[in-house]
Amino acid sequence: MEVKTSLLDNMIGVGDMVLLEPLSEDSFINNLKKRFDHSEIYTYIGSVVVSINPYRPLPIYSPEKVEEYRNRNFYELSPHIFSLSDEAYRSLRDQDKDQCILITGESGAGKTEASKLVMSYVAAVCGKGAEVNQVKEQLLQSNPVLEAFGNAKTVRNDNSSRFVKKMLWQKLTPMTLSLDLLEKSRVVKQPRGERNFHIFYQILSGASEDMLNKLKLERDFSRYNYLSLDSARVNGVDDAVNFRTVRNAMQIVGFMDHETQSILEVVAAVLKLGNIEFKPESRVNGLDESKIKDKNELKEICELTGIDQSVLERAFSFRTVEAKQEKVSTTLNVAQAYYARDALAKNLYSRLFSWLVTRINESIKAQTKVRKKVMGVLDIYGFEIFEDNSFEQFIINYCNEKLQQIFIELTLKEEQEEYIREDIEWTHIEYFNNAIICDLIENNQTGILAMLDEECLRPGTVTDDTFLEKLNQVCATHQHFESRMSKCSRFLNDTSLPHSCFRIQHYAGKVMYQVEGFVDKNNDLLYRDLSQAMWKANHSLIKALFPEGNPAKINLKRPPTAGSQFKASVATLMKNLQTKNPNYIRCIKPNDKKAAHIFNEALVCHQVRYLGLLENVRVRRAGYAFRQPYELCLERYKMLCKQTWPHWRGPARAGVEVLFNELEIPKEEYSFGRSKIFIRNPRTLFKLEDLRKQRLEDLATLIQKMYRGWKCRTHFLLMKRSQIVIASWCRRYAQQKKYQRIKSSAIVVQSYIRGWKLYWLRLIIHLPSNLSQMQKYFLEMKNKMPSLSPVDKNWPARPYLFLDSTHKELKRIFHLWRCKKYRDQFTDQQKLIYEEKLEASELFKDKKALYPASVGQPFHGAYLEISKNPKYKKLKDAVEEKIIIAEVVNKINRANGKCASRIFLLTKNNVLLADQKSGHIKSEVPLGDVTKVSMSSQNDGFFAVHLKEGSGAAGKGDFLFSSDHLIEMATKLYRTTLSQTRQKLNIEISDEYVYFLLVFKRTFPSVQHANRFISQKSNLG
Ligand SMILES: Nc1ncnc2c1ncn2[C@@H]1O[C@H](COP(=O)(O)OP(=O)(O)OP(=O)(O)O)[C@@H](O)[C@H]1O
Ligand SMILES: [Mg+2]
Repeated sequence: MEVKTSLLDNMIGVGDMVLLEPLSEDSFINNLKKRFDHSEIYTYIGSVVVSINPYRPLPIYSPEKVEEYRNRNFYELSPHIFSLSDEAYRSLRDQDKDQCILITGESGAGKTEASKLVMSYVAAVCGKGAEVNQVKEQLLQSNPVLEAFGNAKTVRNDNSSRFVKKMLWQKLTPMTLSLDLLEKSRVVKQPRGERNFHIFYQILSGASEDMLNKLKLERDFSRYNYLSLDSARVNGVDDAVNFRTVRNAMQIVGFMDHETQSILEVVAAVLKLGNIEFKPESRVNGLDESKIKDKNELKEICELTGIDQSVLERAFSFRTVEAKQEKVSTTLNVAQAYYARDALAKNLYSRLFSWLVTRINESIKAQTKVRKKVMGVLDIYGFEIFEDNSFEQFIINYCNEKLQQIFIELTLKEEQEEYIREDIEWTHIEYFNNAIICDLIENNQTGILAMLDEECLRPGTVTDDTFLEKLNQVCATHQHFESRMSKCSRFLNDTSLPHSCFRIQHYAGKVMYQVEGFVDKNNDLLYRDLSQAMWKANHSLIKALFPEGNPAKINLKRPPTAGSQFKASVATLMKNLQTKNPNYIRCIKPNDKKAAHIFNEALVCHQVRYLGLLENVRVRRAGYAFRQPYELCLERYKMLCKQTWPHWRGPARAGVEVLFNELEIPKEEYSFGRSKIFIRNPRTLFKLEDLRKQRLEDLATLIQKMYRGWKCRTHFLLMKRSQIVIASWCRRYAQQKKYQRIKSSAIVVQSYIRGWKLYWLRLIIHLPSNLSQMQKYFLEMKNKMPSLSPVDKNWPARPYLFLDSTHKELKRIFHLWRCKKYRDQFTDQQKLIYEEKLEASELFKDKKALYPASVGQPFHGAYLEISKNPKYKKLKDAVEEKIIIAEVVNKINRANGKCASRIFLLTKNNVLLADQKSGHIKSEVPLGDVTKVSMSSQNDGFFAVHLKEGSGAAGKGDFLFSSDHLIEMATKLYRTTLSQTRQKLNIEISDEYVYFLLVFKRTFPSVQHANRFISQKSNLG
């Protein structure tokens, strides 16, 4: 049986902040800290996962954990990123809803790690099969490649993502990656304490000498201007090992060897570009023209990239501006040449990065044209506040600002939608909406990005200062914009705000931006001469990276500025996200030291504030703090109510209603939605939990009790059975003993008796006169024995008086023996006859004068052979039973005393009277209806058969018969009635004629007449 658990089981602090009681900033932070200290880095706010970077490996991402969280409900287990991943993946798979997982938090908070965990979870649980597995592996292996090219060490994070990464999964199969918004300025310049992208260091550290030679590189970092030296080595990071990992990953992803070589050549070219230096050279027109100082580096670049050296050299010195039909070539001064060089490096690198993404996508793209629902995992660069913040931070923070906005909108929207879906009343909640900040940046007329574009496109002298001036004019009154020079007097004396800076109050805090470089970075111009030079390269990859360099495709339109490109990308991203079902992971950084076990409350508090996590909780709790589908709620608390425990047969909702009524939870504390119960206060939930805990303890005790009872009873029954067995054996043994004793006693008694008898025999034997007389007596007796006939009454006379009793006894014994001998000769039939004769003797001997004459007559019963006589065929057919008596009798008519011959049949159950001539049955009397047979004690053959009053045959009155076989008939009637009805038939032998008179008083004219009749008959008999 699957064990149902809940988030509420074994909680450290509270697993879901929505249940925090009381809710305050302090309690919120304390709860996070308590959980963090117990290595519980994940906490929920409803369906949002708050993740705190542990800065140490935790054993909570094993394949067993994946299995544990697989197909489980969100609130079933303790909070985990896998739970959210599973929820999102299942919604995609089962409900066919587009999903996006938005991972936000500041730099170093663990977004990239979280995104990798989500992907590894989805990879583990999604579709299987050789092809899918290969694609999954390729997608997962694309991470090290992308991190090498897109991540860099910053002061906040040793592996900081410098691009926005979106991974897409189609139902069951991984699909594509899309990357955007690379912080390309890092290629040419890195802030203090930070590094360039990892790949540069990895090549120099990890490539073999041979490869370095081919790439025309040296292992020494200090040889390259684009590599800052102060933090070239990062603690705990082995660039050489990482390089091997990246190469291996590239192979798995599907890069061919020549492709890898080309990529490395481009990286090397970028690195070497930084080493090209320019010197001014005066021209005749008095203007300075830039010239390359040392052409050796340029030569190597051209050899690497297959570019004609003179073409590239010229592109660094001249700029051709084409307007309509005209082409004007102007020289570049040194500053412009450096600008062109850096622009080329940045473009080469960022385009290489985009190409890499396209190439990876080609490898892993699922072979399907049908658009299926997708799940996107979005990992962006985190919110950044540095000492010097420039255009890049501005852009990054803008992106974060937009994500925060979408979070607020969608969280509220989702909450609201759930209430509508569940038919629950929605109450409005106050929250900070950062739309105003987004508007400050992106507004098409008055937004900072619009101002910047306007400045960049404006004719005349455009500098960063003129841009700031413009901002000061347009944004001065904006609540979230601060500048020393703005018309707003608030900041006139704010010395913390230099004149060349402006400050924005972002949702995550105030950030001061150095305006220097904004215009140039926004312009991001790559002179056409350079792109054409690149296109001319004899290097297929570089040629492909600069399609606009093709003279046939000359586009005179100014390319969009970096700001507007970024804005458009962000807008597309947001639009895309809005169509998907969002899932949030809010990452928090516990300390600035990148150290494990340190929880800096102030730092966490700041993040909690700007991420609006408390507001998130409030929104979630605005109506109801807790909600749960009815089924789960009932499952969890059903033991609290007798009616729902152990089984509730009806719908879950009705069960929950019964449960809550029984527990007397105030009505205002909960509401019934369509599919969920909404609990207003965490208090109520905890009360339920306490009750449940208590009840579970009681149930555990009950189970223990029952178990112990069962165990004792089983033991008792065993003992009882054993006792019965033992007792029976004991009784048997005792009885055996007793029997032995009785047996031996009987033997003793017998032997005494025998001894006693012998003693007397001896005594007698020892009387010599008696003995001789006895001998004589027995010898004579032998010769005088009477015949063996039992009726023989002869017995010799006794010779001696003293043997009188012996003689009598001997006579008795002899007679019994003789009778037995006689009986033993009988057959079964004879036995029956004798039994009948015996019965007749008992009934009639000394009672009826007719009896003695009957003794010698055998009882035949069937005097009429009905079966043999064809005359009686009909009668025979009518009688189915065995016939015991078939005899012709005279039936005396009660009216006139005349006799009529009738066939008298006695069967097992009936007495039948039939006409003697025709054989037609006249009367049929069941034996049960015969109550008595009466007769006189005289020598006549008359007998009356009395019938039960009220019986069917009694209607005509009792029967009076005369028969020559009266004794036999009465005997057989008696025996048959006894055997059939188990009742003795009353046979009355009486000479009281009154009886006859009573019977015949209606028929005979006078008593004298009857007397005469009887006496006549008697005399006849
Ligand atoms: N769940 C985790 N378990 C162990 N270590 C982690 C975890 N999450 C993050 N880390 C550690 O924190 C470091 C920074 O995390 P990560 O690169 O994911 O941050 P980020 O939010 O992506 O930052 P940025 O915005 O700069 O890209 C990781 O290199 C890793 O050492
Ligand atoms: Mg990252």
